[in-house]
Amino acid sequence: METSFLKPGCTSGQISVLQLTDTHLFAEENGVLLGVKTAESFKAVLETIINQGMPFDFVLMTGDISQDYSAESYQRFAHMISLLGVPVYFVPGNHDDGPLMYRLFNRFGVHTERHLICGNWQFVFLNSEVYAVPHGWVQREEMQFLQQCCEQNPHLHTVVCVHHLPILVGSRWLDTQTMHNQDEFNAFVARLNNVKLVLSGHVHQEYDKYHGRIRYISSPSTSIQFEPLSHNFSLDLQGPGWRYLTLNIDGTIQTEVCRLPKGRFIPDTGVGGY
Ligand SMILES: [Fe+2]
Repeated sequence: METSFLKPGCTSGQISVLQLTDTHLFAEENGVLLGVKTAESFKAVLETIINQGMPFDFVLMTGDISQDYSAESYQRFAHMISLLGVPVYFVPGNHDDGPLMYRLFNRFGVHTERHLICGNWQFVFLNSEVYAVPHGWVQREEMQFLQQCCEQNPHLHTVVCVHHLPILVGSRWLDTQTMHNQDEFNAFVARLNNVKLVLSGHVHQEYDKYHGRIRYISSPSTSIQFEPLSHNFSLDLQGPGWRYLTLNIDGTIQTEVCRLPKGRFIPDTGVGGY
């Protein structure tokens, strides 16, 4: 198991994290997803983050970096994210080519380790991608990897990063694309006492709830947003977003979602699918 080690930027041991998710970049710089130029919205998000000046020790990118599985889209991501000047870790999403990402990112400066230890927290990066379908599934080997990390580091609070939020969000069309073995996954995670948080993307909307003692969080995309609780496919007019997390040494978490203002990136709401 290859582990990455980082020191918290704060002397108190508190860790600050920036979550970005679902950039859906193309090989082509002007590539458009449902009316939004995804590289342009990602650039605007990055510029706003830099201008905000909030501290963060590293970035967690929770998948769907690409929309077209291209090497150029991953190169574009690595180049753009390097503006932030901090380490970047990722999990693959259903729109990604996982093996290609692991091959390329080593060369482009994005961390490919699947285990990070920072202060008294650890982060485990799991793959929920199923080839060529939108729903997710976490293989038994992935869960065993998580268990191994938890058993070897029982004193560390644990964040599980996985693209598919393993919770139904009450949106009929989107819930068909959920993690299909979420009951098995959630029962497995619940038995691991040091897991505090499951951090996901995929649903292109904000989610933050406890299920049992574990907190489940997903965040807005840097590109298009899905309308919460919609029966059929529907886009939300809220702006692209991102999330800050503060992880305290006692295992507690504070978090805040930020968005670009409405109206700057307007999706094509007339389309019926994704
Ligand atoms: Fe996505």
